[in-house]
Amino acid sequence: MRSHFCGQVDQGLIGQEVSVAGWVHRRRDHGGVIFADMRDFTGLLQIVFDPDQAAVFAEAERLRSEFVVHVRGRVRARPEGTVNTSLASGQVEVLAQDLQVLNRAEPLPFQLDEAEDVNEERRLQYRYLDLRRPQMQAQLRRRHHITRAMRGYMDENGFVDLETPMLTKATPEGARDYLVPSRTQAGKFFALPQSPQIFKQLLMMSGFDRYYQIVRCFRDEDLRADRQPEFTQLDVETSFLDQDSIMGMMEGLIRHVFREVLDVTLPDPFPRLSFAEAMRRFGSDKPDLRIALELVDVADLVRDCEFKVFAGPANDAAGRVTALRVPGAGALPRSQIDEYTAFVGRYGARGLAYIKVNDCVKGREGLQSPIVKFLSDAAVAGVLERTGAQNGDLIFFGADRAKVVSDALGALRVKLGQDMNLVEEGWKPLWVVDFPMFEWDADGKRWHAMHHPFTSPANDDPAALTAQPQAALAQAYDMVINGSEIGGGSVRIHRQEMQSAVFDLLGIDREQARVKFGFLLEALSFGCPPMGGIAFGLDRLAMLMSGAPNIREVIAFPKTQTAWCPLTDAPAEVSESQLRELHIRVRAAVKVDG
Ligand code: AMO
Ligand code: AMP
Repeated sequence: MRSHFCGQVDQGLIGQEVSVAGWVHRRRDHGGVIFADMRDFTGLLQIVFDPDQAAVFAEAERLRSEFVVHVRGRVRARPEGTVNTSLASGQVEVLAQDLQVLNRAEPLPFQLDEAEDVNEERRLQYRYLDLRRPQMQAQLRRRHHITRAMRGYMDENGFVDLETPMLTKATPEGARDYLVPSRTQAGKFFALPQSPQIFKQLLMMSGFDRYYQIVRCFRDEDLRADRQPEFTQLDVETSFLDQDSIMGMMEGLIRHVFREVLDVTLPDPFPRLSFAEAMRRFGSDKPDLRIALELVDVADLVRDCEFKVFAGPANDAAGRVTALRVPGAGALPRSQIDEYTAFVGRYGARGLAYIKVNDCVKGREGLQSPIVKFLSDAAVAGVLERTGAQNGDLIFFGADRAKVVSDALGALRVKLGQDMNLVEEGWKPLWVVDFPMFEWDADGKRWHAMHHPFTSPANDDPAALTAQPQAALAQAYDMVINGSEIGGGSVRIHRQEMQSAVFDLLGIDREQARVKFGFLLEALSFGCPPMGGIAFGLDRLAMLMSGAPNIREVIAFPKTQTAWCPLTDAPAEVSESQLRELHIRVRAAVKVDG
């Protein structure tokens, strides 16, 4: 049917006959001549219908946008002045000798060229049309290039692609499970995997040595721009490799992917930051290193000041008082500072003190601030010196519980970086390492695993861990690029005593541990190799590499922020008979059809 794709027809074919097939992107009548831009996945091609060819011309008059057509014609140079340099085929056009309409199209619910302005729900309702747009095609093809490069690297390095069950038992990754009722076992449920974590560990116990899988994971959690209820991981596990070797091999993978897909060379090796340093300097465990702004702690300088807002947290081991100097921000109007105050309020901050540095040499006379009056000369001088303040700068302060300050000022750092055009071009990957093993949940009064309960502590001694869980560091690592966590992993616990100690600390009692993970604990007793691995968020990586504003732009059929699919209208009610088969009675009154 076709001799060429639209995007392939170029000057080299002038004078030749071609046949192409695709969609009518748009049609224009120009005083007796009809032009149609024809589109396939490779691009656009201009077709000309001349009235000399009466039958073909008559057919062309009936063409409408998105009709599917087949055209045979001769390639010729475009007349001077009509060349389109932004198209591969922009130097040429095809004079149609034959036109076949393969299918007609009703007017679309939105114009493809205008889809960017269409409400997203509508785009998702007609996703198959939205995906006709060249930009969406490019993004999904790039995603394919990413997975192709990943598979190439994993294969080169001896990894085996193995599948793990979708209908399984809960895997603790910190989210709610999606459950699937069993028909054959009344009252029992499968859980869709939050990750293949346990199975990949079992595969190491089986001796596969290196496993990978590009796999769907399911997490029922609050959705954000970079989260979906079902998403895809490149999931990896290896045996007999230590943390450094795993990290080295995995940053090699990401360097390979960036080289293959974007022709970008990432640093070798990636820089590493400890969790503690990342929190201290950037207020985040996924710092965007393209922004040069840094937090500077000043608690020791304000410990004795009369400003309780500062002195309180400065004298509290769980508190933090930090400063963020923003070069050139002294010119920001008061209203803008009020906006930033409201912004940090979303992270729990109760205020946003600041000092405008008008003239450093004038001491406090040269400063404008609601708080310098509460600070001693020594404290003011210390803050200016430590932050490296220059005339024209603005220094923001956060004082509160350490988590609130880090979250608030960390987010403010990124926001200011964006607002003030301080985000450098390019790619800044890094590893964050030395995470704490556990996080204290003050509400639940219990420890949570910071990564997951199978992560090995740095000190391989169950007694030491039990004695001081708050001090334990994990052999865990996150890969961060431009402020986005694209992967996370750890060395695993491979001894039963340590696994039991961690379950104990997490408040999973022996009986619960036996019911939930008995099979894993038993497996650990039959000769388990040391192992570790990682999982990368494929959607996040594709979003980052495409410069897309959210994860949905790089997923063919994503869900909305309310975990709904506007195209199929899933989730949906099911019939009474289906429910009965599944031994389920729905509590709320719902309309069912059968
Ligand atoms: P983790 O939970 O850190 O680790 O997940 C790994 C990576 O998956 C991506 N990710 C998501 N992407 C989109 N939507 C979501 N809801 C979502 N949740 C996570 C992130 C994240 O870095 N089993 C461990 C890995 C291991 O230890 O080997 C795990 O799943 O990019
Ligand atoms: P106040 O004494 O509450 O009027 O606050 C004086 C200044 O300190 C104002 O600029 C507040 O925005 C700021 N401020 C109040 N609480 C905090 C806090 N926890 N951290 C940082 N700044 C604060």
